Parts: sequence; structure tokens; C-alpha cells
Amino acid sequence: MKTVHVPASAPYDVLIGPGLLSSLGSRVRDLCPKAGRYLLVTDDNVGPLWADACVKSLDAAGLAGDAYTLPHGEASKTAQSLVEILNFAAERRLTRSDMFIALGGGMTGDLTGFAAATYMRGVDYIQIPTTLLAAIDSSVGGKTAVDLPAGKNLMGAFWQPRLVLCDTETLSTLPETDFASGCAEVIKTAILFDEPLFAQLEREGRDFDREALIARCVEHKRDVVAEDEFDTGRRALLNLGHTLGHAVEAESGFALTHGQAVAVGTAVVCRAAAQYGVCPPDLPARVDALLEKFGLPIRTAYPLDILLERMLSDKKRAGAAVNVIVPEAIGRCGIRPMDRQALYDFMKAGL
Ligand code: GLY
Repeated sequence: MKTVHVPASAPYDVLIGPGLLSSLGSRVRDLCPKAGRYLLVTDDNVGPLWADACVKSLDAAGLAGDAYTLPHGEASKTAQSLVEILNFAAERRLTRSDMFIALGGGMTGDLTGFAAATYMRGVDYIQIPTTLLAAIDSSVGGKTAVDLPAGKNLMGAFWQPRLVLCDTETLSTLPETDFASGCAEVIKTAILFDEPLFAQLEREGRDFDREALIARCVEHKRDVVAEDEFDTGRRALLNLGHTLGHAVEAESGFALTHGQAVAVGTAVVCRAAAQYGVCPPDLPARVDALLEKFGLPIRTAYPLDILLERMLSDKKRAGAAVNVIVPEAIGRCGIRPMDRQALYDFMKAGL
């Protein structure tokens, strides 16, 4: 097992290794001795596979509770689901000393985290990520949210979990598209911070040691969160590929996964950066080749005019400008504010 400590305003550990679900109950007891009940939130794909193991462990530790199961997919990450979860908790009389547990991917983690942030003005929660994407990114750092019709993650809060328990056995049942989706965020992390990791992925492809790779990506995220927990500066780097990626994802009606859309967004900004002379000329070809090696898309056919409107409504706008993360080398990226015209020209250069 590997442990990564996250020194946020409310510090916590990320535990990564096989078989960790069986220790859930005793860890809840140690961390939250006053917790009497729990609410386990999951989805209809993950619940049938892993909820029983969680409940068994919680039972053995003398904790009682209930499970709330959502339909899988981004369409469930709504204000309506949030209210349903809060009502469910209130009807079962959970108190402020009880706890929420998120078992699933990014949708479940973001939604449950936000429910925990708002139930009775805030209760403890544990993240149990069961996708690669959630393990290396969304379960760590305390960003919680639901989507609004106007865009992704527009309603949310910073609320750090008490623990992230990443049982690597749960990743063994991941559908292929979800695994590839997580690989897009791994490649994003390597482009941002870690040239040796990028070179390793070029050499080894998917034959990586999952525990070691997740820990390494979480360490990078830990460093960013430690420096900029509330996303006022350096944390924006984590949005590499996301400005165009979110637009492509929304335009596809979420037919493309988040990771597939981020792959397209990352490939486009790398090609644009080379066109602008900001990064080495061979960088886009390396990035395109690696993304394709992992079965990820690198282009979009959606018209730029339509994508531009979506990018401009992204919540990450800073006033009149949109902050775009631009690769300068493998392992180093910069943050560049762009107005409407600059954004259009830049993305056009990379399409
Ligand atoms: N997923 C981006 C962040 O945590 O800031």
C-alpha cells in the first residue's frame, strides 16, 4: 500500500493499494469515532460490484447506514440529485457527526462531496474512487460540484474529504472506455509536471504498475493543492486540455467521455503551442502518438464557432479573458489569459 498525505486546510491521507475496501469500517472508526451512521452513495454500475464489500466492512466495525444508488453517468450530477441525497439523509436522521461515503467515479465523488459540504452545513465524507480518473484527479483536492444546464461544475464548494481510499482491485472491472478516459488524465499530468513519466508511458504503454502510477499522479496533484487549494493561481494548470475539452464534451451531449474530450483538448493546445513557437516543434507529434497509443481521440469535427461560445461560458474565465494552459515543454506548462479573438486564433491553429 502507498500513502500520500495531502496537507490541505483539513489534511488527509490518500491510501492506494489492493484490498483496501475490507479496512473501510475500521478506518472510519479511527478517523470519526463519533460517527454512528453512514450514507453510502454509489451508482448502478459500481454499487452491484463493490457496495457489499463496503457494507460488510462497515457492519463489522459496528456502523449502520444506508446506500443511495444513482443512475450512472454525468446526467446524474445535477442539483436535483443533490436535493434527493440530502432528503434521503434527512429522512434517515443523519446528524452532523455522521458521515457520507462516495463509492464510484468522478460523478459520484463530486456530487457526494457537495452533498457532504451542504448537509447540516457540512459533514465528513470519504472518497472511494473506482475509476482511474477519479483515483488520480477528482477524488483528491476537495473540489465538489454539480452541473447546471449552463455548464459543468457551476454549483459547488471546496470541501476536503477525511480520507481517500483507493482500492486498486476496483479498477480491474473498469470498462475499456473508462480506463482510457483515466489514461488521458495520466498523460495530462505527465505533460504538466513529469517528463520521465511521459517517456515511461511512451515506452511501456498500458503495462504500468497501477499502484505506483496512481501514487505518482496523486503526489503531483498533492503538490498543486498544497500550494493553491482554493484555485486562485497554480491549480489552474490542472485544466490543461479542459478549456476545449469541456466544450467538446458538452457539444457531444456527453457521448464523449471526459477523458476522451480532454485528450482532444490537450492535443489541440499542443499543436497550437507548436504553431505559436511556444513549445518544441516535435512536442505535438509525441503527444498525438501517445494519446493514440492509449486509444484516445486527438481531433474534433465540431465547428470552432460553436465550441468558442461554450469555452467563453466556462466558469474558469477570468473577467473578459479565458485562462488557457499552454505546454512549453513536456513537463512544463504556462497559464495564458486570452480574449475572445486570441482564443479563437489559438485554437484554430491547433485544430
Ligand atoms: N480537477 C482539477 C482540480 O482539482 O483542480
